[in-house]
Amino acid sequence: MITIRDKNFVPLIEADAIQARIQELAKQINQEYAGKQPLLVVVLNGAFLFAADLAKHLTIPCEITFLRVSSYKGTESTGQLKEILGLTESITGRDLIVIEDIVDTGKTLHDIYNQLQTHNPTSVAIATLLYKPAALQEPIDLHYVGFEIENKFVLGYGLDYDGLGRNTPDILVLE
Ligand code: IMP
Repeated sequence: MITIRDKNFVPLIEADAIQARIQELAKQINQEYAGKQPLLVVVLNGAFLFAADLAKHLTIPCEITFLRVSSYKGTESTGQLKEILGLTESITGRDLIVIEDIVDTGKTLHDIYNQLQTHNPTSVAIATLLYKPAALQEPIDLHYVGFEIENKFVLGYGLDYDGLGRNTPDILVLE
């Protein structure tokens, strides 16, 4: 068990299971992108460990870049929108694989997907380590999903609670 501030977290997915699943996802990507050279677009901060471990098992040629999303912005009339920061490469005509830690409401990836599409990439696929189907509010096409989980707060292996807990090999869930 890990305690961070006032909250207790207990094991949910152990390191061995995470690594085994990542190898399966990499194998699938290697097959589906054979003959291509995708650009991996890693969403910081949460996806840093997932992206690193996934990339180690990719045998196709690939490039890696990183982006952040701003906190929600916008007005009441336009609704809330997350903006992409830090993407410097041209993505026009590229096969993109967006690497995310978790899809919760789906709003973050929905906004990222739409903004990437405005630059006319050849294709955009999404790889997420975790997915909470019960929390989803924006329909989104997820191509590679590590684990579907219950709608509970999780941490570890990149995911944080209040900035802490990203550096564990396991994924834990709020008790
Ligand atoms: P969404 O826009 O609601 O899908 O939220 C996605 C982002 O919220 C993720 O990239 C995470 O940074 C954060 N997030 C969502 N659920 C969790 C969780 O259970 N633990 C830690 N972070 C989470």
